[in-house]
Amino acid sequence: MDAPKVTVPDLGRSKLAGDKLVMITCYDATFARLLDEAGVDLLLVGDSLGMVVQGQDTTLPVTLDEMVYHCRMVSRGARRAMVVGDLPFGAFQQGTKAAVRSSIRLVKEGGVSMVKLEGGIPMAATIEAIARVDIPVMAHIGLTPQSYHRMGGHKVQGREHGHGAGQHERLLDDARAVQEAGAAAVVLEGMPRSLAGEITKSLAIPTIGIGAGPDCDGQVLVLHDVIGLSGAKLKFAKSYGNVAGEVARAVHEYAEDVRTGGFPDDAHSFH
Ligand code: KIV
Repeated sequence: MDAPKVTVPDLGRSKLAGDKLVMITCYDATFARLLDEAGVDLLLVGDSLGMVVQGQDTTLPVTLDEMVYHCRMVSRGARRAMVVGDLPFGAFQQGTKAAVRSSIRLVKEGGVSMVKLEGGIPMAATIEAIARVDIPVMAHIGLTPQSYHRMGGHKVQGREHGHGAGQHERLLDDARAVQEAGAAAVVLEGMPRSLAGEITKSLAIPTIGIGAGPDCDGQVLVLHDVIGLSGAKLKFAKSYGNVAGEVARAVHEYAEDVRTGGFPDDAHSFH
């Protein structure tokens, strides 16, 4: 029998029990099945797909239609894991009505159980509007990749010195605001571990960190970084495999076999 699906109330229970939540990004049905079977709690169909799947420089060009398409694929492959769909840039900034409409598409057409959106205090009314129609919301504060131009790149936020200095209080306020607005969880991205720990302690909802240290209630990473498919060397990410190397080895061997007549052999031919 299938393990019961992870639900929104389960996330709150995990925080109370001190059980770490495991989230990983996912963009298609094949990986959804594999990651689900590996026991992750949440599959995030992140707009990071703009960079790791589409080959764009930022997440900004990703459209709502593209997100719906990928969410639908991931939802088909997931059994136990909760599927969370990212609202892309442009799908929720034009007022609460537009944000609710976009969220409904991700639920109805994409099959997700929760939507994620970037932004703190300025997005509180939007989070409230989406939560009011019973769509669970995961907020996302700190380094928000959709703020690429304002931040001047993908920069760590809330440090005591240097870039983003003096934002400590602002990020704490962002965290409180998204919780009060009704977010069911919040991603903390690219901030000092001490600040992420402080936010985690001060909130009743679970925090899920990426580049935010170990004191969050859970962690999320981009799939391609975890399995060694991206080749990226990021300070906050850890590669647990070398899938890129394995793909290169397998395809080299296949190409060699084709060129030398080793494939297809008799065993792989119809008679
Ligand atoms: O788009 C994404 O994959 C994300 C995670 C990195 C948190 O927002």
